[in-house]
Amino acid sequence: MRRVVCPGSFDPVTNGHLDIIERAAGLYDEVVVAVLINITKHSLFTVDERIEMLREVTADYGNVRVDRFHGLLVDFCESHGISTVIKGLRAVSDFEYEMQMAQMNYRMAKVETLFMTTNPLYSFLSSSLVKEIAEYGGDVSGLVPEPVISRLRARLARS
Ligand code: PNS
Repeated sequence: MRRVVCPGSFDPVTNGHLDIIERAAGLYDEVVVAVLINITKHSLFTVDERIEMLREVTADYGNVRVDRFHGLLVDFCESHGISTVIKGLRAVSDFEYEMQMAQMNYRMAKVETLFMTTNPLYSFLSSSLVKEIAEYGGDVSGLVPEPVISRLRARLARS
């Protein structure tokens, strides 16, 4: 089985992420979306909430599974029989850090990284910008899936 991992923080999942997941699902037998558990990074949504949103918005894809991980991505890959990571590349600014991680993951465990160019519709999109815009009452429709919009509204109304 050709299996690939699509790792990230997904705080929250955006239409850019979803586009990469959907295209990867067309290329691989199984896509494992792996949400990083990072207790040192402040996040708007808990890991459970992020996973719930990801499961909801990927429910139509029979070959997409959502999981969580902590520690090294290469250890997650090894324990799940995965040898390839897929990442979206938005702009040159993403490239330097992504290349460094890709080379390090290969150096550590021979885990390959494939970069998929982001749909130009979403090349400016990031979870951080979505959170900032939503926080100040801006319109994020078209940038994140519908279930995420309602979650953002509910979360920000409480804070
Ligand atoms: O969505 P993000 O925050 O840009 O995702 C980054 C992520 C989770 C892919 C990256 O930070 C990661 O793989 N972290 C796990 C820890 C790890 O393996 N570090 C060594 C990288 S060479």
